[in-house]
Amino acid sequence: MKALQEKILTDGIVLSDTVLKVDTFLNHQMDPVLMKEIGEEFGKRFEKEGITKILTIESSGIAPAIMAALKLNVEMVFARKRKSLTLQDGLITSKVYSFTKKEENEISVAEKFILPIDRVLIIDDFLANGQAALGLMDIVKKAGADVGGVGIVIEKAFQDGGRLVRETGVKVESLARIESLKGGQVTFVPTKQGVTS
Ligand code: G4P
Repeated sequence: MKALQEKILTDGIVLSDTVLKVDTFLNHQMDPVLMKEIGEEFGKRFEKEGITKILTIESSGIAPAIMAALKLNVEMVFARKRKSLTLQDGLITSKVYSFTKKEENEISVAEKFILPIDRVLIIDDFLANGQAALGLMDIVKKAGADVGGVGIVIEKAFQDGGRLVRETGVKVESLARIESLKGGQVTFVPTKQGVTS
């Protein structure tokens, strides 16, 4: 997605060979115009998948997920990383280990929000090691529902997550795929003509 790639090049800060800071538009301050376009792009890429629900994880997944939900005219639910005071029973949970933060979170969703009839689109801001996406897929499976796809805003293609999630056979669409952050430089995975990535 061209507008997103341009934003990454102008506003993204390469912190190291593996970490890209995008807090001016994606995961601290958020750009609503870009977010709307992101939602529309996800909508286009998954419009034929029969999606009935969108699932993401707090906090930075929420904005792109709600925009995609608006476009696909379905409801969005976000997995919580901490137990809610009012949500105690009837939870579906999964354990997600973050290699970046070196911590494990038990993520949870109220079982009433994902039903066996649902076909769920999973959305997240980053795909790095894939643990969040795999944890969300595990929740959908435990709910007895189907995963209709995984939509990612920024995939770091040099890390393992993309391969791990695609190996499950699910359709993965990343709006920007970063091949390398080496030398303080963002390089995108080249896109084949006529093929979206
Ligand atoms: P994984 O889910 O793909 O395995 O990723 P990982 O554990 O490595 O990432 C954990 C957190 O770090 C996630 O945010 C993810 O979005 C974020 N992250 C991973 N790589 C980058 C990066 O290069 N740049 C930035 N800015 N973030 C990155 P989180 O803990 O869920 O945070 P939030 O959603 O509450 O903001």
